[in-house]
Amino acid sequence: MNTVTTVRELRAAVAQARAEGKDIGLVPTMGNLHAGHAALVEKAAQRVDFVVASIFVNPLQFGPKEDLASYPRTLAADQEKLIQAGCHLLFAPSVEEMYPDGMAGQTLVHVSGVSEGLCGGSRPGHFDGVATVVTKLFHMVQPDLAVFGQKDYQQLAVIRTLVRDLNMPIQIIAEPTVRAEDGLALSSRNGYLDDTQRAAAPAIYRCLKQMATAIKAGERDFAKLIEQGKDELERAGLRPDYLEIRKADNLRQAEANDRHLVILAAAFIGNTRLIDNLVFDLEELA
Ligand code: PAF
Repeated sequence: MNTVTTVRELRAAVAQARAEGKDIGLVPTMGNLHAGHAALVEKAAQRVDFVVASIFVNPLQFGPKEDLASYPRTLAADQEKLIQAGCHLLFAPSVEEMYPDGMAGQTLVHVSGVSEGLCGGSRPGHFDGVATVVTKLFHMVQPDLAVFGQKDYQQLAVIRTLVRDLNMPIQIIAEPTVRAEDGLALSSRNGYLDDTQRAAAPAIYRCLKQMATAIKAGERDFAKLIEQGKDELERAGLRPDYLEIRKADNLRQAEANDRHLVILAAAFIGNTRLIDNLVFDLEELA
């Protein structure tokens, strides 16, 4: 696996792969890779001949009080994991390479609708930062497909909408969330948790499962379920940021007769904000 740091080198390496008749897959990441990222790369490697991963902690998607400075940067370990997972080329640019004129005057990509509320409500500007950097990476690599994790469900919806609205000829593939044995969704931010916090964190997924079970059993008072779920998170020592039941396809508010649902949660444990979601289908009514 080659590592390149400039757009020029990236384009040259991708052009060579294209000239060899290979199709191209892209896995954008912010590094500090875990088994969830490895699954994205492995999925890409099953589908295409040449897998490009990117590692870039994108300042444009972090709020002023967020963890940009402390976000873990572990390039050497990440390179090893990418090789194991079947990656062919790593693009690991500097901030200057991605934003040569700085970020203040950077053209922004704004995806309306799905980017509003949920994480978009709690993190103003976050999805503009994501949509902008992903658009840049798509134009730099021009992949046939790109793989994203379902753990960032709203991000996935934003990227699907971006690709559709701007007619980008890129297939977006969603890879299921990888979880620890106790159910906690793998995330680079789990590394911020101390032992007590780590022991409390699986409450998020437990809460999502309980809510889904209740809905499958016929409960349709979503407001009550959400209140109960938030109480449960608080009892476990977490501070819920949001807990919502939405239509899985477009993230609009769920209604009692919807069959394809997603429950999405964000909660703080100390200063660490974790997100998770659970997508499920209800049987058709007889
Ligand atoms: O999911 C992430 O790690 C980031 O939001 C992404 C898609 C790499 C854009 O910076």
